[in-house]
Amino acid sequence: MTKPIPVIIDCDPGQDDAIMLFLALNAPELDIRGIVAVGGNVPLARTRLNLAMLVETTRRTDVKLYSGAIRPMVRDLVTAEEVHGITGINGFEFFEPEMKMQDIHGVDFIVENLRGARDNEITIIATGPLTNIAMALVKAPDIADKIKQIVIMGGASFEAGNVTPSAEFNIYVDPHACDVVLKCQRPIIMFGLDVTHKVMTNPARVAAIRALGNPVSEAAADMLDYFGKHDSKKYSSGGAPLHDPCTVAWLLKPELFELKPCHVAVETGSELTMGHTAVDFWQVTDNTANVQWAYDVNADRFFDLLTERLEQYQ
Ligand code: RIB
Ligand code: CA
Repeated sequence: MTKPIPVIIDCDPGQDDAIMLFLALNAPELDIRGIVAVGGNVPLARTRLNLAMLVETTRRTDVKLYSGAIRPMVRDLVTAEEVHGITGINGFEFFEPEMKMQDIHGVDFIVENLRGARDNEITIIATGPLTNIAMALVKAPDIADKIKQIVIMGGASFEAGNVTPSAEFNIYVDPHACDVVLKCQRPIIMFGLDVTHKVMTNPARVAAIRALGNPVSEAAADMLDYFGKHDSKKYSSGGAPLHDPCTVAWLLKPELFELKPCHVAVETGSELTMGHTAVDFWQVTDNTANVQWAYDVNADRFFDLLTERLEQYQ
């Protein structure tokens, strides 16, 4: 087997972040250097508590957890309790976790871990607002050379926005952070709504996960039952899009996805289109592509992967 991929994960748990974490935390292909919580779906006080409970549920108490930015770089925090519930992971059975956040700030962890890495070594997985990643790049521009790639859930092109008509939530919450990341000149792989809306849960898929019968798959099924309620009304679908797990699924099985090099820029001026990702999919400008933009996925094989990996928990 090839050497495990060293990764730093940054997230705002959220039910779909939780499934992403479950997929990552028992993947032998990944060497998780640390996980950072950011304010997003719900305030930071909740996302970091959720992170601790979720990681403890997988028994990966060896993984170091960090608390990152409490708010976006410039704008006020916008949260999404209407989608995820007041806890951010409604459906999950609360417990007081033993796992605690490390003392240093999540941004400082990202800087220090990257400074100690080799050039092009570290993969960053980001499934919340990009505040921590951008703050680290602004604080320590020298770390860019240590980043192999940044794998992001965010943005939308052919799909309409899910928080405004123009913008996807993660990018809308911190568009200035997205602008910093898009200009960092490191490889970026972006999973926007165009592809995540193709991996919808449905009762059969959730039932297959629940049938696995281990504590992690039970927790996953409980959260997906809740998560599907809001979005199934919104999208008149049978469930919810599994946005964040697309990032890890691509690292584990890239062949499930179709990507295209595109130039991507983000709106940071207009209130009407704030956070809109302008994806030059048809290459109508001479702007150089700065992103591998994901636009298609084999949904059945995605859920096969997810179910197969969740089955491996005891
Ligand atoms: O727009 C979907 C994204 O916003 C997902 O990452 C979800 O968890 C929320 O953070
Ligand atoms: Ca998220």
